[in-house]
Amino acid sequence: MGFGHGVHACLGQNVARAELKTVLPKLFQRLPNLRLATPLEEVPMDFTGTD
Ligand code: HEM
Repeated sequence: MGFGHGVHACLGQNVARAELKTVLPKLFQRLPNLRLATPLEEVPMDFTGTD
């Protein structure tokens, strides 16, 4: 995940990071067998426009 950069960098990124620090460990604790439905190589990603 990215929060953008420069003057339009995400204003909520500190809130989002704090929430994710709580939510992600809890998610993986409750669903320890959670896996991607497809291999990572098959997940479509578009890096156009990034450095
Ligand atoms: C995982 C959660 C989040 C992600 C991945 C995320 C991502 C982003 C990204 C990439 C941008 C920049 C968009 C651009 O370049 O035009 C942005 C902008 C912004 N985000 Fe977030 N965001 C998240 C959560 C939040 C939260 C929780 C808030 C508010 C509490 C928030 C408020 C904003 C605002 C107000 C902007 C506009 C900033 C500006 O244009 O000056 N975001 N966000």
